[in-house]
Amino acid sequence: MASFIKEQVTSVTHWNDTLFSFTTSRDPSFRFKNGHFIMMGLELEGRPLMRAYSIASANYEDELEFFSIKVQDGPLTSKLQKIEVGDEILLSKKPTGTLLQENLLPGKNLYLLSTGTGLAPFMSIIKDPEVYEQYEHIILVHGVRYTSELAYQEIISQELPNNEFFGDDVKNKLIYYPSVTREKYVNNGRVTDLITSGKLTRDIGLPAISKEDDRFMICGSTAMLKDSCEILDALGLEEARQGNQGHYVIERAFVG
Ligand code: A2P
Repeated sequence: MASFIKEQVTSVTHWNDTLFSFTTSRDPSFRFKNGHFIMMGLELEGRPLMRAYSIASANYEDELEFFSIKVQDGPLTSKLQKIEVGDEILLSKKPTGTLLQENLLPGKNLYLLSTGTGLAPFMSIIKDPEVYEQYEHIILVHGVRYTSELAYQEIISQELPNNEFFGDDVKNKLIYYPSVTREKYVNNGRVTDLITSGKLTRDIGLPAISKEDDRFMICGSTAMLKDSCEILDALGLEEARQGNQGHYVIERAFVG
């Protein structure tokens, strides 16, 4: 286990039967950028079982936070969902990822498109004061099947706007747009359909998507990533790749 850092669980939040979050201690020497992911897991029968997880906490916070699905027969999450305060988790030493502001060309509006636990890196990004300096609006779209999966709502809508350092920026610039596909809710429809139909921009009162003004970060299932890329490509936006800035970035490290 020498190549891993061990941290202790400090809190666990079960959102519903399928989703939970937890926080851990953080070695002060552990550095990452908001939007990064890392290999995280457990020692099982003397061996590390690791998966890619986005860090949901901001890089200036004392603890690390992760947001996970619970899969009953999943090799890691069947065990991980049972963790309790004081338990040990393993972390790799090298956070990485593409969902970074520096990979995007300058723009006016930053759209953060997520489905399911794809929300995690954006929880880190919407706590980053620099993001509010760079953009006029930050639009956080979270697509889920059921309302019970809309985790972090209170933090997004109540806590962050009252943050003593950047609460005013959140109030003025952050637009939160949760959308549910399998039961009735204020907003219904897939993230992708909300874009192609123009409903998203109409609802939030912003102009139609343009490559001049709009930048995107996307995190979700493989199918959602693929469909989102096709839509943005058709609108003339280009993905940031190999060190070249672009109009959008996607995180390919996850499945689900
Ligand atoms: P739907 O209910 O129509 O399948 P999942 O839990 O399967 O990852 O889904 C999370 C959310 O992502 C659901 O609202 C689901 O909608 C939606 N979704 C599934 N596939 C896509 C896709 N290709 N593009 C956009 N959203 C998708």
